[in-house]
Amino acid sequence: RIVYVNGDYLPEAEAKVSVFDRGFLMADGVYEVTSVLDGKLVDFEGHAKRLERSLGELDIVSPVTTDELLSIHRELVKRNDLTEGGVYLQITRGAPADRDFAFPDPETTPSTIVLFTQVKNLADAPAARTGISVISIEDRRWARRDIKTVQLLYPSMGKMMAKAAGADDAWMVEDGLVTEGTSNNAYIVKGGKIITRQLSNDILHGITRAAVLRLAKEAQMEVEERGFSVEEAREADEAFVTSATTFVQSVVKIDEATIGEGTPGRIALRLREIYIDESR
Ligand code: PDD
Repeated sequence: RIVYVNGDYLPEAEAKVSVFDRGFLMADGVYEVTSVLDGKLVDFEGHAKRLERSLGELDIVSPVTTDELLSIHRELVKRNDLTEGGVYLQITRGAPADRDFAFPDPETTPSTIVLFTQVKNLADAPAARTGISVISIEDRRWARRDIKTVQLLYPSMGKMMAKAAGADDAWMVEDGLVTEGTSNNAYIVKGGKIITRQLSNDILHGITRAAVLRLAKEAQMEVEERGFSVEEAREADEAFVTSATTFVQSVVKIDEATIGEGTPGRIALRLREIYIDESR
């Protein structure tokens, strides 16, 4: 694979980042994952805007402009011949001369930027046909989940808790309400109405979420943005998640409860189809 590091396109084995990089030492960095379908980036603009916001909230200076970022994404897709999958982008606060809790001066410590591509079956993912199972776990992440930081230890642990329980993923719960999945936004459908948690600092403002809610409204589907409990989800007609790496993915089991018929629901399947059609 050819990867991008601080201005250079290199074979992955030759790419290097300092051991003092604050991304490595302190998870002091942000990231984005933009999906690629038919060799084209899906909603690059949405990801670029959220990246800018994440960087701003943490006072990290971007080493590139949005136009440069788009060119790098396209160049990397081309060099790796990627037709379907994603581009991972990470920007960290760079590598100061020594480890220190205080932020380094951005004038002397430039941010580190890394991008790489990942091959993945997105439109035809087998899990889209069967649906996935989730367990509910407590949400023990920090309180600024709207910033897409590389601090992903708790979500990784959640994924492992799900695996240990024989499930595919976990939905995190805070104060009795589902926040989101380990790496996706969570939804239920009841009586034809799509219900998903409102935007706040408690969840990541999903780019796929924004597109799917817009498409749902355009298709005259009813949408309600509010929190829901695991109990309400267990009684729902359908459940699903959205993200750049799963698009719209049905959830057919929550803890011990089967959702609907235990197969992907009509509304989730329809949204998936509309979303993929629009993204091509
Ligand atoms: N994750 N919520 C969380 C906690 C996420 O990590 C993600 C994305 C989403 C969905 O956001 P979007 O629709 O913009 O992809 C929601 C990416 C895909 C990842 O970590 O790989």
